[in-house]
Amino acid sequence: MNSSLASPSRFPGRGWFLAVLLLAAACRAAGSDASSSAPLVVPEPAGATADAPASATAGSHEIPDPYYQGLGNGGYDVQHYDLVLDVDLESGVIEAVCRITARATQDLARFHLDLYGLDVDQVLVRDEEASFEREGRELIVRPERFLPAGEEFTVAVRYGGVPEPAPDPGVPFVPGVGWFRTPSGVYVVSECSGAASWFPCNDHPLDKATYSIEVTVPKPYTVASNGILVEERDAGDRRTWLWRASDPMSTYLATVCIAEFDVVVEEGPGGIPMRTYLPTDATEEERAVFARTNEILAFFGERFGPYPFESVGAVLSYENLGGALETQTIPVYGRGADESTVAHELAHQWFGDCVGPANWQELWLNEGFASYAEQLWFEHTEGAEAALERGRGMYRMLRAANVGPPADPGLEQLFGASVYVRGPLVLQALRDAVGDETFFAILRAWVDRNHDGHGTTDAFVALCEESTEADLSLFFALLYDADMPVVPSLE
Ligand code: TRP
Ligand code: ZN
Repeated sequence: MNSSLASPSRFPGRGWFLAVLLLAAACRAAGSDASSSAPLVVPEPAGATADAPASATAGSHEIPDPYYQGLGNGGYDVQHYDLVLDVDLESGVIEAVCRITARATQDLARFHLDLYGLDVDQVLVRDEEASFEREGRELIVRPERFLPAGEEFTVAVRYGGVPEPAPDPGVPFVPGVGWFRTPSGVYVVSECSGAASWFPCNDHPLDKATYSIEVTVPKPYTVASNGILVEERDAGDRRTWLWRASDPMSTYLATVCIAEFDVVVEEGPGGIPMRTYLPTDATEEERAVFARTNEILAFFGERFGPYPFESVGAVLSYENLGGALETQTIPVYGRGADESTVAHELAHQWFGDCVGPANWQELWLNEGFASYAEQLWFEHTEGAEAALERGRGMYRMLRAANVGPPADPGLEQLFGASVYVRGPLVLQALRDAVGDETFFAILRAWVDRNHDGHGTTDAFVALCEESTEADLSLFFALLYDADMPVVPSLE
């Protein structure tokens, strides 16, 4: 167990949020080792360099976000990431190539990618050698010839080194986010800003793309990742795993988990593949946490609409990881996860993954909804009376701490009680105001309208207002008011 990964408390969504709010970030300095590998194939030198028109300018170094500066980049839209990684678990060194297919959204003279640490050996744009420089988390690429607006182009980055988790001011309960190397193996949990710790990318949830992720590791390690496992190849004392994620996905939801796993292969909703990765020493009790996955998915499917992706699964880590993360199609669970955590991460497949946050201030659309889904599963399994008692407990805590509005929780409290506890009460107030039928119709319409896209609080409020004539004042007070309002039904 890597002590730097061990969270001194359980995860905020599970009732320990107050302790988490008090935790300070233990930021770790970045560092990386050099690695060398064969160069990318460079075709014949390019001919005459076309002069860039005056309209060709630099793509922005960020996608503006109310809570984070510098995340993501402008001037292009990524369609696909093709990652090929070779991982040496002993030294921690990766040798990698990331091939990006993107579309220019302006005439581009140069553009940025996000990359934290690691060494870049070579960059090709449209198969031509490009010059590049590093500036903090920015990798600035200058193609030989400008990229015309609207054109699709490829970028190949050959890079390597020892990935380090990236410090993230919104996530103080872990020392960093992204690629975690531990004694048992590697786990990638990147929310919010950690994807750049393991591949060059447009690291903002607004730019979704499809992925293919190929990872070679020494035997006897197993590689789990997003989407469909399309191939497993033997190469002497090493083994290659090829995964393909065909549903558009935000960078923070991409994962690679490498450990000695047991794998259970079953079928999920509609017969899609369901793969559950477990520590080889997982107890019966730990395995049983995932036993009701199909039941939970069916329950949510009836209420939120059909399960949105091509596959489903789980990775139970050997490590604590500071919680669980809803990595698309295959959530990663820290050791100690319970059935409520499973319900939470599965609900995120609809809320957070299929309908992503347009920016990080909108996080309650992920965490408030997933936490309310936990409440729904609790109500289903334990009954309405027990669920009301659970809701009262949440309410008492919010009143005592006067937790701020989910619509603007603030960066320091991003993963705190505002979105995890007050967030679900916003939805409870909506349900109380409009009744079950309209409430679940709203949730289904929300997923349907924003499928594989993004949500904003404004858009959700607009949907609610057009769906009902009911008095939504308590819903609005819980969502927006600086002070935690009185909720008579929970007093
Ligand atoms: N989104 C996670 C959840 O399901 C919480 C989370 C955010 C997280 N960043 C993380 C967990 C990094 C582990 C590591 O509530
Ligand atoms: Zn969550």
